[in-house]
Amino acid sequence: MLAIYPGSFDPITLGHLDVIERGCRLFEEVIVAVLRNPNKSPLFTVAERMDQIRRATAHLSNVEVDSFDGLTVTYATMRRANVLLRGLRVLSDFEMELQMAHTNKTLSEEIETVFLATSNEHSFLSSSLVKEIARFGGPIDHLVPPPVALDIYRCYAKTLPVPVPNMDLPQPLEPPKTEFHRETVGDPE
Ligand code: PNS
Repeated sequence: MLAIYPGSFDPITLGHLDVIERGCRLFEEVIVAVLRNPNKSPLFTVAERMDQIRRATAHLSNVEVDSFDGLTVTYATMRRANVLLRGLRVLSDFEMELQMAHTNKTLSEEIETVFLATSNEHSFLSSSLVKEIARFGGPIDHLVPPPVALDIYRCYAKTLPVPVPNMDLPQPLEPPKTEFHRETVGDPE
């Protein structure tokens, strides 16, 4: 049986990878399908994300990486797949995921959504969280595959200000000695 694992994957995390690896044990083939979403401004292009997923899943023989636009069920029908694979992390995921599964069921009766409970150690993990940590200079090596961590660091290195040593920057001005200042900090005279 063929399963589609659709998502944004901006970027793929160890939580996604865990779902893919477990999906590969349950299904003959798993197609990881990156949504081309014109309404979002992602950190990585679709081609970059597909490349990251390919590198992260190179050890799995039954994974294909693809991209799609439009409805997920249309893509699944086109690929002759009747399972959509999704990961469930926490209770708050459930509402949205159930709504998506029900919507998809109304669009295609043949396609089933199968949920895998994300492993405990990844239950807090999301692509947005990874980007936020990296944006503020925190470590992300334990959250994403190593090449993806490098890609993210490179991305933010482009935007973070690089300190230039020995640059003659103007020194901060002394605060003016106002009446208030003299009164509160005390005048030397
Ligand atoms: O990784 P994400 O962003 O949680 O993935 C969401 C995704 C891509 C699975 C979902 O937004 C989706 O299926 N979009 C395609 C449009 C669609 O089929 N909409 C109807 C189902 S809600």
